[in-house]
Amino acid sequence: MCGIVGYIGARAATPIVLHGLKQLEYRGYDSAGMAILDTDGNLQIRREEGKLANLERLVDAEPVNGSVAIGHTRWATHGPPSQRNAHPHRSPDGNIVVVQNGIVENFLELRNRLQGQGYEFASDTDTEVIVHLIHQHYHNGSNADLTLAVRRAVGELQGPSAIVVFDKAHPDRLIAARLGNAGGVVVGYGDDEMYIASDIPAILQHTRRVAFMENRQMAVITQQGAQFMDIEGQPLTLKEMEIDWDAESAEKGDFEHYMQKEIYEQGRSLTDTLRGRLNFAQNRIELDTLNLKPDVAQALEKVTIVACGTSYFAGLVGKFFIEQLARVSVEVDYASEYRYRQPLVSARQMVVAITQSGETVDTLAALEEARNGGAFTAAIVNAIGSQAARVCDGHIYMHAGPEIGVASTKAFTASLVDLLLLAIYLGQERGTLPAAEAAHLLHELSRLPGLAGELLEDARSGHLYQQLAERFHIYHNFLYLGRGINYPIALEGALKLKEISYIHAEGYPAGEMKHGPIALIDEEMPTVVVALKDRVYDKMISQVEQVKARKGLVLAVANADDQYIQSKADFIMPVPAVHEMISPILAVMPLQILAYEMACRRGEDVDQPRNLAKSVTVE
Ligand code: G6P
Repeated sequence: MCGIVGYIGARAATPIVLHGLKQLEYRGYDSAGMAILDTDGNLQIRREEGKLANLERLVDAEPVNGSVAIGHTRWATHGPPSQRNAHPHRSPDGNIVVVQNGIVENFLELRNRLQGQGYEFASDTDTEVIVHLIHQHYHNGSNADLTLAVRRAVGELQGPSAIVVFDKAHPDRLIAARLGNAGGVVVGYGDDEMYIASDIPAILQHTRRVAFMENRQMAVITQQGAQFMDIEGQPLTLKEMEIDWDAESAEKGDFEHYMQKEIYEQGRSLTDTLRGRLNFAQNRIELDTLNLKPDVAQALEKVTIVACGTSYFAGLVGKFFIEQLARVSVEVDYASEYRYRQPLVSARQMVVAITQSGETVDTLAALEEARNGGAFTAAIVNAIGSQAARVCDGHIYMHAGPEIGVASTKAFTASLVDLLLLAIYLGQERGTLPAAEAAHLLHELSRLPGLAGELLEDARSGHLYQQLAERFHIYHNFLYLGRGINYPIALEGALKLKEISYIHAEGYPAGEMKHGPIALIDEEMPTVVVALKDRVYDKMISQVEQVKARKGLVLAVANADDQYIQSKADFIMPVPAVHEMISPILAVMPLQILAYEMACRRGEDVDQPRNLAKSVTVE
């Protein structure tokens, strides 16, 4: 959580840092702040509680110019959201400033010690411990060598942290350090200017040439470039990469919200996910970066999928794909549970992490558990160069482009596609998927972006979802039902609604309705069903009837050509009829739009829902 941006160059740093923070606001929005070395050589701080807009207003009222700056957007851990807890935090002499993403786990011990040594604290944060430690080392035994002082201070910290340090006495440099899985740290190379940020979208407008810092690495960044070293001070060379996202992909464009943009661009994002992966000449799937040898694929006895949030629900659909097509048993676990339950892991197992950000702390820890047990590890991941992509034996990128809206949408559909590609690939390697069926699936996948584009275009040009939101935004409880491959879609639909509109919604496998939720159904609790013409269609229709018999209202995601359900359900959200394996990828879209329109109608902050953050890099 928390977002960091730093700039050093010749241009005005304030707008660069503020724009970068805007792109990172999904990581936290409890407060925002920046430190700038002004043109007279004074270190100026601007900090404000609440969203970035408050900081922007402050900077408008009290402008400051300079060409080196660091900024921060906070998701509160130690200390409530307030101006005094907003980063950057300063040393007692006001010369050194620090922004941090992460947690200092031994914060109390360090704070007590520093207080005993005369340091006064101006905030409740763990970050302030870091800046005081740097100050202490700088003045004691480091011979005013800032890099050494930072190294020594970082050496005392426990827990994951990414920090950027600026010292007025060294105006030509920023110092960055990364400890553990604190979320990404990306160094951006410009033309006689350099950037540092927690994530690529923050700097994408300026450069696509980047290097990613790993655990226990530091960087001294000047206008001309970066020198890397490990925490012990040994010099390092980091690989530079070219990111192939275009600058507009991280901007909102004509849309009102990032989430809205990300929903409606799924036709395009799915094209990107599929690009280069469907080999029609041989009817095979190309997944080079998975690095899975045929003998390992053939010998697999179990696949475990670990993930959190929306990615976990994608995993539940993945279980259907892989078990059906590759005939290997799949367990799906919350990463936060898996990591602590001493899982049984073997060398004949593949553990697949699904993570949009590639930085979710529980997911990374679950991967470590799997690696230690000798499993083959793979990540289905969106963020290029992120930790998950780097620590696994192989990876499959989602290629969904930057996802900024806190509620995940296009990354969900991209992970479903990746999971289906993986299932087909495994099915072929293991000889469980007949060639004709593989060819059929490839063909169906190739139709998917076009069908998604049409569905979304129809939704956008019509008023159905606004009308539904108008009618339903006043309800307090919703039940979402699905069955078979679309049961996880009901879970995801319910999650979307609660995340952004704060309406209580429960997702259930339809067959379980009569074991509990049916007791809740009345005219006050609408039910959303995913009832497509698949093998469980008749059973879904009977659920609809049971809800209607109890005076419940039914909103159904149904096939556009299904006349019958129109006489049963109260409202229809249409999707085209497709292969069952493809159907969840389309069926979720109406539920994303419904949640979006409901939140808008209720006047909620769609892109920054309360209490949530997009990348959960702390436990
Ligand atoms: C947070 C986000 C969710 C996301 C989950 C997992 O809870 O708000 O949208 O699904 O983290 O994130 P990941 O990046 O690992 O997919």
